[in-house]
Amino acid sequence: MGREKTATAMTGRPSRVLVFAPDRSGEYAEALEQAAVGVGLEIRAASSPAEAWEERLWAEIFLGAGLEAELLLGMPSLRWIQWAWAGVDQVMGNPAFVSAVSTGRFLLTRVVGVFGAPLAEYILGWCLFVTQDMPRTLQARRDRLWRRFTPERLAGKRLGLAGMGAIGTEVARRAAALDLEVWALRRSGGAGSPASQPGPVTRIFGPDGLPEFVGGLDFLAVVLPLTAETRGFISGDILRLMKPTAALINVARGGIVEERGLLDALGAGRPAWAVLDVTAQEPLPATSLLWSHPNVLITPHHAGISRPADIVALFLRNLVAFRTGRTLEGVVSGDLGY
Ligand SMILES: NC(=O)c1ccc[n+]([C@@H]2O[C@H](COP(=O)([O-])OP(=O)(O)OC[C@H]3O[C@@H](n4cnc5c(N)ncnc54)[C@H](OP(=O)(O)O)[C@@H]3O)[C@@H](O)[C@H]2O)c1
Repeated sequence: MGREKTATAMTGRPSRVLVFAPDRSGEYAEALEQAAVGVGLEIRAASSPAEAWEERLWAEIFLGAGLEAELLLGMPSLRWIQWAWAGVDQVMGNPAFVSAVSTGRFLLTRVVGVFGAPLAEYILGWCLFVTQDMPRTLQARRDRLWRRFTPERLAGKRLGLAGMGAIGTEVARRAAALDLEVWALRRSGGAGSPASQPGPVTRIFGPDGLPEFVGGLDFLAVVLPLTAETRGFISGDILRLMKPTAALINVARGGIVEERGLLDALGAGRPAWAVLDVTAQEPLPATSLLWSHPNVLITPHHAGISRPADIVALFLRNLVAFRTGRTLEGVVSGDLGY
């Protein structure tokens, strides 16, 4: 057991919280210990899945991520899981886990309200990379050549957000401040009416509208959850409908974009760019053809790095709701898978 600390309960027995996050359990436990003084928590941090398993009979609440669903299912007293990531695909890929969520054996909440700002900066930064033609400037520096060109304007271009949830909404707000037009696609659609949508979206599509949606965009940002429905959703055939000048930016999960199809589409000249923060296999193997394509840019899943203090603040808000029977933030639906 890496760390242990008992905070005195104000009333009753302290709630028993098991903390685990790959390589970050200590950071999370420390942030929780600092913020939760007097809240009535007994905190244990596991620095490996084996250590987490040792606590299976003890844990009532789990705060963290990256632990296999089987291990969580093996914890008989577990009543609430606060996942420390926004995406729950790792655990929701396990049918027994989905059933435990659906039947209310335990509650699953994920992170909301934390990743919108950093992911918006990532997406808009790469949009500017394209319109400012930054590769051309880097080449001019290498050539020591004063070579004037006219950068494109970002204002007036159209950004499509595949996914208009917690993150998509934040991206749309910031994109509108730069005078981008925003289209969105969501599972529930919206019958083309932006009236019921948050923020400055001019058109809303449902999943059936995907071909028309992608065909009208200058930038396609993928902010969907990975579920059975969205796996491979952005196929090569869909990507080939994009404009030859357009860019794909995937910050969601690698499994949503078909990588072979993406390489074929790029080879056919549509889209022009692909910026991938996530790939089907992570870390992306050095042998992947994605590394060798000149118009594919890879970042190592760092677009939405979180600070433990932010996750702990959400956890403590949710703890109050959990104890008082109110609705928690970021509740995951067993039926929808996100
Ligand atoms: N790169 C990173 O570091 C990083 C960081 C944070 C998050 N992420 C990823 O971003 C994802 C999105 O996060 P979020 O918090 O914005 O999720 P969210 O609030 O649950 O929003 C998901 C959006 O996707 C839509 N959607 C779901 N299934 C769909 C389908 N089959 N067809 C069309 N639209 C569908 C939803 O439609 P409705 O509005 O109709 O429900 C909703 O608009 C996470 O699941 C995670 O994988 C990555």
